[in-house]
Amino acid sequence: MIIDGKIVAQELRSKLKLQVQELKAKHNITPGLTVVLVGDDPASHVYVRNKIKQTTEVGMISNEIRLAEKTTEEELIELLHGLNNDDDVHGILVQLPLPKHINEQAIITSIIPEKDVDGFHAMNSGHLLNGDAEALVPCTPQGCVILAKKHLGNDLSGKHAVIVGRSNIVGKPVSLLFLQENCTVTVAHSRSTDLPALCRQADILVAAVGRPLMIKADWVKPGATVIDVGINHIEDEQGKDKLVGDVDFAEVSKVASGITPVPGGVGPMTIACLLKNTLRAAKQHL
Ligand code: GUN
Repeated sequence: MIIDGKIVAQELRSKLKLQVQELKAKHNITPGLTVVLVGDDPASHVYVRNKIKQTTEVGMISNEIRLAEKTTEEELIELLHGLNNDDDVHGILVQLPLPKHINEQAIITSIIPEKDVDGFHAMNSGHLLNGDAEALVPCTPQGCVILAKKHLGNDLSGKHAVIVGRSNIVGKPVSLLFLQENCTVTVAHSRSTDLPALCRQADILVAAVGRPLMIKADWVKPGATVIDVGINHIEDEQGKDKLVGDVDFAEVSKVASGITPVPGGVGPMTIACLLKNTLRAAKQHL
């Protein structure tokens, strides 16, 4: 069975739209998201365009700030300080990756935790680690858990979640979220011994490594739930650009009980969860 992220994301956005209307009616507040894009990375431009379109569609205020590639770290930090102090801005997102001369960690730390809708600030990571309710949680990991629950039901207790990848954006936070759901969690990565054997233990397999089609059918336990976070560009037989995940969908879909496609799986959920975080930030500001 295909776990359709487009449908689940659409359902979530419809709910958010109603909540945005309610917030306006009761408190005269419209949640505002500002996205900052530095430089000319073409993939980032596509992502940002999608984020802005969907922000507006749920009735939120969306602001885009584009800066030249040569923008300095100091200039970017100064801009963020202004946004931190702007009462109409509830969420701030700086699109990654940043140009090489800018220290990403310094930028992430310059956004106040209350407006850090990416959930990347050390304060929010700490809240997530502690299981505190006030954490703004990274968007892609939230999307992974929602999709797993869509397929398996809300109770994930006792299931073995194997996460392949240990990035700060996906691997680490998603492992904490599945732990909060009472799963047994294994975090595997490129240095793990016998990765296929580890993956075969998974009831829930999350692939977030950025290696096209790495996970094959014989890595997957029959009946497992597979969540594919990978977004990789490869050339197809005709030499055309093709988007694929970290999982070999054609063969793994015959073994798994549920699997997310690429595109149309985790991707749409990431943006929907960004809007969810922005609404939360606006409510907490209130
Ligand atoms: N670039 C790729 N994914 C993300 C994300 O989730 N947030 C930000 N800010 N940049 C990204």
